[in-house]
Amino acid sequence: MMMVGCVNAFFVLVALLLAYVVHNHPSVREYWQLDNRPPVAVNCSFMQLHRNVTLPTLPDDLEALPWRCGLQEVTTTTTTTTTTTESSPNRLRVFVFTQPDGTWCWSNAGVIVYDDEILHIVDTLTDEHLTNHFIEAIQKQIVVVSTKKKRRMTPQWIFLTHGDIDHVYGLAAMRRSFVGFRGILAHQSTLDTMAKNPPPKKLAQSVMRARLVWSFFSDKNDSMSLHPWIKRLLSYGTPHVLQGYAVRFLGNLRAMQFFSPFDFDNTADVPTKDVIAFDERERHVSLSGGGGGGGNDAIMKIVHVSGTHSYGDVFLHLPSANLVFAGDLLFIGVSPIMWTGPARKFKAALHMLLATNATTFVPGHGPVCGRRGVELSLAYWDFVEAGVRQCVADGVSESRACASRLFDRLPSPWNAWLGAERVFINVDVEMNGPVVDVARKFALIGAQGEHGLLDT
Ligand SMILES: *[C@@H]1O[C@H](CO)[C@@H](O)[C@H](O)[C@H]1NC(C)=O
Ligand SMILES: *[C@@H]1O[C@H](CO)[C@@H](O)[C@H](O)[C@H]1NC(C)=O
Ligand SMILES: *[C@@H]1O[C@H](CO)[C@@H](O)[C@H](O)[C@H]1NC(C)=O
Ligand SMILES: *[C@@H]1O[C@H](CO)[C@@H](O)[C@H](O)[C@H]1NC(C)=O
Ligand SMILES: [Zn+2]
Repeated sequence: MMMVGCVNAFFVLVALLLAYVVHNHPSVREYWQLDNRPPVAVNCSFMQLHRNVTLPTLPDDLEALPWRCGLQEVTTTTTTTTTTTESSPNRLRVFVFTQPDGTWCWSNAGVIVYDDEILHIVDTLTDEHLTNHFIEAIQKQIVVVSTKKKRRMTPQWIFLTHGDIDHVYGLAAMRRSFVGFRGILAHQSTLDTMAKNPPPKKLAQSVMRARLVWSFFSDKNDSMSLHPWIKRLLSYGTPHVLQGYAVRFLGNLRAMQFFSPFDFDNTADVPTKDVIAFDERERHVSLSGGGGGGGNDAIMKIVHVSGTHSYGDVFLHLPSANLVFAGDLLFIGVSPIMWTGPARKFKAALHMLLATNATTFVPGHGPVCGRRGVELSLAYWDFVEAGVRQCVADGVSESRACASRLFDRLPSPWNAWLGAERVFINVDVEMNGPVVDVARKFALIGAQGEHGLLDT
């Protein structure tokens, strides 16, 4: 009797394990193998531990600019060719600083240069090491480009697309390097988010503790994987209930490793008192530095949207460059995330991006894209919205269960994008409403660490 019970338990355990493993293996990666192009390796030496990243190959109609590390000019092909004479400077030039592979905290930032003279920054990256590298790139590449005019660049504004740490933790470094800034301009909700962010040094401590504990369980050859023995023990030798707890505990530890390539310890507190917050839905800013000067080519529209990635999301529209800085309204090559939602509102915001008629979009993570990138993002939220509606109709009311179902059915291209398991966050927000407190946010990030934990 005892024996039969054991055997049954064994089979149940194996079945559960199989179900678990199968469900964590959708047809991942098939997407970019379809067109027979190998993943691209990029050299990001300044990104230190994260320097050797392998990127999914994106469809040809998606990338407007190669997905490289560091600073690139976006506007060369569109505006510079026609306006390079001495008498007519390139009124508006836009540069982006991108950090493949765009996963947790590998965010983009931007530089807007007016008349080869006035400089504005969009977002500030995740830690001061990266921000200093960004600043150095600005000084080397942009200032040198414009010294033919022997003018001094005058930094003016830092614009923030939203308040998440990977866009604001570099503020102090930026402030320090560019004295004489006019100010940091952000939406009131962004300022509120920033006030709730943990101080960088506190986050550094949490990451360090998690790294220490994780090191007992992790594979020395692959820091993001469990040690093979622990994996085996968890897979075959652990009662189901315990396995659930263990997976959750280890998943949380593993998720904290997303943050371990960053130098939060040497990152100063964000100077929130310097932020000029605005509350209107749309604000127009003159990029020419003066009150009103510069004409239409120097106007930037900052549009606040809500119910999207986070509470303070704005997009920055440069009509004369046909360009939009979309912040984290757009993720390309890496799964989108929604902390506020619902998908219906996120889609409305993406429709607003398209309605600008811009042709170039700078995402918060991933390569610069054209309109196709926005359309793809819209289709992703369509999928999430419709999938959750179907879950509810089918009585699958628990968010994890619904998310598993959507994860299994996630179509191409998103099943091949990095962090496809973020659909678990997106479904949770779609079902249970916005993430307001940091604890729930970290719990949802922690759950990301569980995916693939027991894969071999
Ligand atoms: C990566 O880039 C750095 C700096 O740009 C360079 O010094 C280094 O040689 C490059 N490494 C490889 C493997 O190409
Ligand atoms: C990255 O790649 C370079 C050259 O391929 C190699 O020398 C280096 O050890 C790698 N670094 C890491 C951190 O994997
Ligand atoms: C690490 O890799 C080496 C060589 O491939 C192997 O002999 C060793 O068992 C691996 N260690 C672990 C903990 O997986
Ligand atoms: C975008 O283009 C459409 C069609 O040409 C036009 O009706 C609309 O006014 C344009 N929108 C903007 C913001 O220019
Ligand atoms: Zn981000």
